[in-house]
Amino acid sequence: MPALVLLGAQWGDEGKGKATDLLGGSVDYVVRYQGGNNAGHTVVVGDQKYALHLLPSGILSPGCTPVIGNGVVVDPSVLLSELSGLNERGVDTSKLLISGNAHIITPYNVTVDKVTERFLGKRKIGTTGRGIGPTYADKINRVGIRVQDLYDESILTQKVEAALDGKNQLLTKLYNRRAIAVDQVVEELLGYAEKLAPYVTDTVLLLNQALEANKVVLFEGGQGTLLDIDHGTYPFVTSSNPTAGGACTGSGVGPTKISRVIGILKAYTTRVGSGPFPTELFDEDGEALRRIGGERGVTTGRDRRCGWFDAVIARYATRVNGLTDFFLTKLDVLTGWEQIPVCVAYEIDGRRVEELPYSQSDFHHAKPIYETLAGWSEDITKAKSFSELPKNAQAYVKALEEMSGAPISAIGVGPGRDETIEINSFL
Ligand code: GDP
Ligand code: IMO
Ligand code: MG
Repeated sequence: MPALVLLGAQWGDEGKGKATDLLGGSVDYVVRYQGGNNAGHTVVVGDQKYALHLLPSGILSPGCTPVIGNGVVVDPSVLLSELSGLNERGVDTSKLLISGNAHIITPYNVTVDKVTERFLGKRKIGTTGRGIGPTYADKINRVGIRVQDLYDESILTQKVEAALDGKNQLLTKLYNRRAIAVDQVVEELLGYAEKLAPYVTDTVLLLNQALEANKVVLFEGGQGTLLDIDHGTYPFVTSSNPTAGGACTGSGVGPTKISRVIGILKAYTTRVGSGPFPTELFDEDGEALRRIGGERGVTTGRDRRCGWFDAVIARYATRVNGLTDFFLTKLDVLTGWEQIPVCVAYEIDGRRVEELPYSQSDFHHAKPIYETLAGWSEDITKAKSFSELPKNAQAYVKALEEMSGAPISAIGVGPGRDETIEINSFL
């Protein structure tokens, strides 16, 4: 059972970092397959807390090789500072591997991200401003810069010229900004080449060879299902495919190799940035979820929008990812509520709708239909098995499982590695 995918089942920040880190000790490779430093994955090991953006969460497990796959977009300055930050804290990062085919987030992509958002005004996406969208746009437009281009100055210069030709027109004529000089960009990018060289390799070949040798490979998604460019709440999404198929295109490993797809699912719902969110709360319950759950963005420091659990979303995630399991996180955050509403369906223009509507306009009108489940007040953070949970917490988990369409195989009851109840083994 060599290849597993672990991904976000909602709008990101479900606790993927913690879940990946937990499995990291038992797998040989952890691979990021899409996204970039828009991600913020928190891992708590003992009294140490790490915030990872670009590096796979497996980097904290000494036996595991972390891999940045071809589908990721890499900001070299962020990568190098993340590496040196970990080195200063005594983490060995020498095993890291980076695909030569991964695309580079250039300084002009970051500029374009910011000016585009400003021009969208109140229609803005609320991006992380890290250059993610423009970098993927360049990739699809075939004017992107890849990691391997850093090692051929003449090709790099030609490519930066091609990319900047059109962009400088836009920047100067439309956005009223100064043009960006090709030489300056090339010089900056070449400055990263030597520092990154020890890590750059053919990760596609390597991962496939590893799988042939029966090594265990874990694919770690960034963002979440509803932020997927194809399957999310477009246009309020990120510019890549966090859903399960992205693990294949973003790594060069075929779908027949993947045996397990684990959806990380928060016991309630959060979202950062703009876009529809049917169960969003604007009252003190929302404020309490934010406070107790520490729901503040790891990357941008923005408050996360909070709401009750949405089973329609969870069912959708099961379907589009072919989920085999859920890892339910942050159950402990719900301790203390007497009653916990759970959204089981939507009302859209007077109709009851059980599944996520494909029409964006319908989704914007969706009103949650709630069922109320009984809460619990006992501290659950020390629970090590399902049977140690209070009866009402057990019933909450069972109800979510029933509504969501895949078994809940682990439950998070705190941020730490060991604050987890394992029900079915993932390996
Ligand atoms: P990611 O982007 O999916 O990796 O998630 P983030 O790290 O952005 O946000 C999840 C937050 O919840 C982090 O602060 C984690 O330390 C924390 N966390 C993860 N699992 C649990 C859990 O089961 N209980 C609690 N209380 N916190 C958790
Ligand atoms: P992790 O991996 C939550 C959101 C942004 C914005 C939209 C597009 O920590 O779960 P982008 O910069 O990607 O073009 O922004 O996507 N977003 C995230 N929200 N968690 C993330 O990552 C996110 N990465 C991007 O807030 O709404
Ligand atoms: Mg996050």
